[in-house]
Amino acid sequence: MTEIKKVVVLGGSGMIGSLVVSALASAGVEVVSASRRTKVNILTGEGLDEALAGADTVIDTSDVPNFDPDTLKTFFRTSGEKIFAAERKAGIRHHIMLSIFGVDQVRGNPYFDAKLMQEDMVRASYVPYTILRSTQFYEFLPTIASGLTVDNVIRLPNAVFSPVAAADVATTLANLAHHDPIDNAASLAGPEIAQFAAWLQRFLMVTGDRRRVVTDEKATYFGGRVQRHSIAPAFSDFTGTATFEKWLGTPAAAALTTDRYAHAVTAMELNG
Ligand SMILES: NC(=O)c1ccc[n+]([C@@H]2O[C@H](COP(=O)([O-])OP(=O)(O)OC[C@H]3O[C@@H](n4cnc5c(N)ncnc54)[C@H](OP(=O)(O)O)[C@@H]3O)[C@@H](O)[C@H]2O)c1
Repeated sequence: MTEIKKVVVLGGSGMIGSLVVSALASAGVEVVSASRRTKVNILTGEGLDEALAGADTVIDTSDVPNFDPDTLKTFFRTSGEKIFAAERKAGIRHHIMLSIFGVDQVRGNPYFDAKLMQEDMVRASYVPYTILRSTQFYEFLPTIASGLTVDNVIRLPNAVFSPVAAADVATTLANLAHHDPIDNAASLAGPEIAQFAAWLQRFLMVTGDRRRVVTDEKATYFGGRVQRHSIAPAFSDFTGTATFEKWLGTPAAAALTTDRYAHAVTAMELNG
């Protein structure tokens, strides 16, 4: 275990970031949540030097909710330039970046392409680092279902999928802060692996959603060509503890599945 003085969580108000902040704070670590909500703007640099003063570790969970390639690349490039200039100035000795499993294997998905560019900036930053490549979160299942629906059918590539709970992602990031940088990427996956379509069917069943799910050799993952193991590793460096059943019992899942259920019922009523 490495001694840490202070950790700054970029995107500390977000879904993952807020869980990382809580995990570190409850372990007695001095932690600062940095986002526009706390007057830190990683696009302009406002408040970054102040947030980083006295810190040795940065965990970057920031994000832009967008699928436009130019917007994504501009966000990660501009923020990366500001973040690493501030980190070099502050003498940060461990930058931990949350990335996605498959960014180096899936081409054509604008979000994955932008995250790979973000990884490249981390590698070129001269700041010691660890990249955590996580599989997709359970919490992302509703977005996958809605984003990949065409004419009430969800078409998925012939691939395996191994989602993980946001809480497990946050715990893994918080634990990494206590270790030395590996200057490389490590993978995190969920405890279960199955066919992508089977996962979506499982999720829709829970939410009472009647949409059809099919495996289609021509289907992409939000524009990205996917091979069998492109978005879920056969073996991972870290494994989440929450199975889908266990996650379903959490308040985070209840909120998502209830909203989704309400939406499904309304849609079914509207469609007769
Ligand atoms: N979805 C998945 O299945 C999946 C899988 C693997 C990895 N990931 C990665 O997980 C990460 C976190 O996702 P999330 O769902 O937790 O994101 P999120 O809830 O949307 O949080 C994004 C955070 O970024 C902050 N932010 C945005 N613009 C900012 C700016 N200009 N300056 C400072 N802070 C800014 C937001 O805070 P303010 O609005 O207060 O500024 C917020 O705290 C992402 O990097 C994503 O790539 C996601």
